[in-house]
Amino acid sequence: MSISVQMLTKSYGVQKALDGVSFDVNKGEIVGLLGPNGAGKTTTMKIVSGFMQQFDGEAFVNGLSVREDPLGLKRSLGYLPEHNPLYLDMYVKEYLHFVGTIYKLTDIGQKVQSIVDRTGLQKEQHKQIKALSKGYRQRVGLAQALIHDPSVLILDEPTSGLDPNQLVEIRQLIRDIGTEKTVIFSSHIMQEVQALCDRVIILNSGKIVADDKIDILEHQINSVREIIVQLDQPISTWKLHNLKKQESLSGGRYRLLFKKANRDPRVEIFDYVVQNNVRLLEMHERKSNIEDVFQKLTRS
Ligand SMILES: Nc1ncnc2c1ncn2[C@@H]1O[C@H](COP(=O)(O)OP(=O)(O)OP(=O)(O)O)[C@@H](O)[C@H]1O
Ligand SMILES: [Mg+2]
Repeated sequence: MSISVQMLTKSYGVQKALDGVSFDVNKGEIVGLLGPNGAGKTTTMKIVSGFMQQFDGEAFVNGLSVREDPLGLKRSLGYLPEHNPLYLDMYVKEYLHFVGTIYKLTDIGQKVQSIVDRTGLQKEQHKQIKALSKGYRQRVGLAQALIHDPSVLILDEPTSGLDPNQLVEIRQLIRDIGTEKTVIFSSHIMQEVQALCDRVIILNSGKIVADDKIDILEHQINSVREIIVQLDQPISTWKLHNLKKQESLSGGRYRLLFKKANRDPRVEIFDYVVQNNVRLLEMHERKSNIEDVFQKLTRS
């Protein structure tokens, strides 16, 4: 087990940010931490990274307690904090060199060069950090989190504010990193979560409301089968098995909701349309996605 948290509870004054959060992350997993604003994602990540010591419950990274050995923990953990705080007056390589000395690395020059190459900073490596665009600053943040080759990475909204091209590149980088390391990252972009991880943990008001593989969660919230059909002429009533609701949409389209059952409603829809001498232009099933899961579990 790379990460194990048990009954994390944290209050800021009277406000409870985390309320009994427990989960485990296995070695080599990429787990997406999701939740609406204020759900407790950053608080969880700060605790797991050893940057917040006042909390109730337990958190272990690679078997080390974050409370008892926060320094030892940081040797094998990389952390990209939310908003990516950097020393803006420093030069990219100077800063990464400085981070390397904090970790007491040997061959720092070579390690800085290698992480500059890995994170795609070659073109910008001689600039001052304040001169970099947001995407490149984000790469510097990732580089500082990776320079000591940690086995566990905690990334708090690593792709926020990036342009579509940068997004693709940073996602690819996270995917590559994930083949050899344990990663927890938070994000508000559902496509990204779908593309990067197979398991998600959803927090809402400081509590875990889901912790499972994405396809299982999507399947669980599907209480009905939703089929969209488009016809060249209208049909006023649909007489079909297990049909719970029919709705007429624009452009000769219909939304048909079926009770879940073994029989596939699409076969019957096809036959019914033919019997009514109408032509079927389109038929597809609308499946729930991770966005639907998120909304269902976190909308108050
Ligand atoms: N330093 C603090 N002082 C007081 N309240 C805080 C502090 N940090 C966080 N909180 C509160 O704790 C709750 C959880 O905050 P947290 O930053 O963990 O949420 P989040 O899930 O990361 O949200 P976001 O998606 O907006 O980043 C929020 O209600 C927030 O206002
Ligand atoms: Mg946050």
